[in-house]
Amino acid sequence: METVVSGIRSTGKLHLGNYYGAVKNFIEMQENYNCFFFIADWHALTTHPTSAEMHKNVRQVVVEYLAAGIDPEKATIYVQSDVPEITELYLYLNMNAYMGELERSASFKDKVRANPDNVNAGLLTYPTLMAADILIHRATKVPVGKDQEQHLEMARTFGNRFNRLYNQDYFPEPYAFSSTQKLVKIPGLDGKGKMGKSEGEGNAIFLSDTPEAIRKKVMKAVTDSGPTTENQAKPDYIQNLFDLMAVVSSNDTVAHFDELYNTCQIRYGDFKKQLAEDMIVATEPMRSRINDIANDREYVKKVVNLGAEKARASAQKTISDVRELIGIKSF
Ligand code: TRP
Repeated sequence: METVVSGIRSTGKLHLGNYYGAVKNFIEMQENYNCFFFIADWHALTTHPTSAEMHKNVRQVVVEYLAAGIDPEKATIYVQSDVPEITELYLYLNMNAYMGELERSASFKDKVRANPDNVNAGLLTYPTLMAADILIHRATKVPVGKDQEQHLEMARTFGNRFNRLYNQDYFPEPYAFSSTQKLVKIPGLDGKGKMGKSEGEGNAIFLSDTPEAIRKKVMKAVTDSGPTTENQAKPDYIQNLFDLMAVVSSNDTVAHFDELYNTCQIRYGDFKKQLAEDMIVATEPMRSRINDIANDREYVKKVVNLGAEKARASAQKTISDVRELIGIKSF
C-alpha cells in the first residue's frame, strides 16, 4: 500500500483553503492508503508564536482535523514535535541542501519580502524540514495545494541526492497528489491571491466561522459595477469569487451566475448572497462537530498519543536505516 503524508502548519483555525486544498483529499485518501496526517508545529515556529498560542493552535488543528472527518482508526494523526526522528533526518538533509537552492525557493522569497526583519535559518531551511516530514515515512503521495509544488520538487531533489550519495535507492520520489486529479486553488476574499490567515481576518472563511460571520465576510468582498459588454473577461477579484463558488456550489448554480455575467445581468449582491449560503451549508457539519470534539479532552489526548506512537514506529525504522547508510553505527 502506498504511503501518504501531509501536514498543516498550526497557525490557527483551518479555513476553506485548507479544507478544499488539503483536508478533503485526506478524507478520501484515508480509505485507500497508508496515511500520515500531522500538525506542523515546528514549521509554525518560524514566526515566533507565544507558548500559549503554540499549544492552543496545535490543539485547534487536531480538533478541526477530526471534525472534518479524518478518522484516527484509519489514518495516523500526529503532532510533528512528538516525532523527534524528523529533526534528525532534517539535520542529515541539511548537510546536502545548498544555500543557493534554498534562497531561490519562491516561498522563501515571498516571506523575506513580507518580513525582511525575520529572515531566520529556520525559514531558509523550511523546505528541508518539509522534505524530512515526507521522507521520514518514505511517502510517495502528498496531498497539498498548488502552492506547495516547489517544496515537493525540493523534497525529491533532497531524497535523490541522499540516494546518490549513499548509493542506494532508499527514498522514493514524493509527488503532489489530489484524489480529484487536479490541484485546486482556493482564492481569498480580498481579490488578490490565495486564501490564507496571514492575509488578514476578512480574507479567509474559517471552518469554525458562524453563519453570520461568513455572510459578513462574503458581502464585503470587492466587486465593481458589473460587466458592460457581453462575454467580457472577468477581472481577478470576480474570477476568484467564481472559483470559490465552483468549490462550494452546484454546477447549475455556477452556470447560472456565469450566464448572468456573460449577458451583463449579474447582480453581485445576489451572487454573493448565494455564495455565502452555499459556504454555510458546506461547512455546517464541521461547525457543530468542532465544539463537541473540543470539549472532549480525553478523546483528543487519546488520538494524539496513539498517533505519536504509530508515527514514531514508522520514523524509527527510517532513521535506523538512514544511520546505517550514512555509517553511523553503534559500538
Ligand atoms: N508547507 C506546508 C504548508 O505550508 C505544510 C507542510 C509542512 C507540509 N510539512 C509538510 C505539507 C509535509 C505536506 C507534507 O501548507
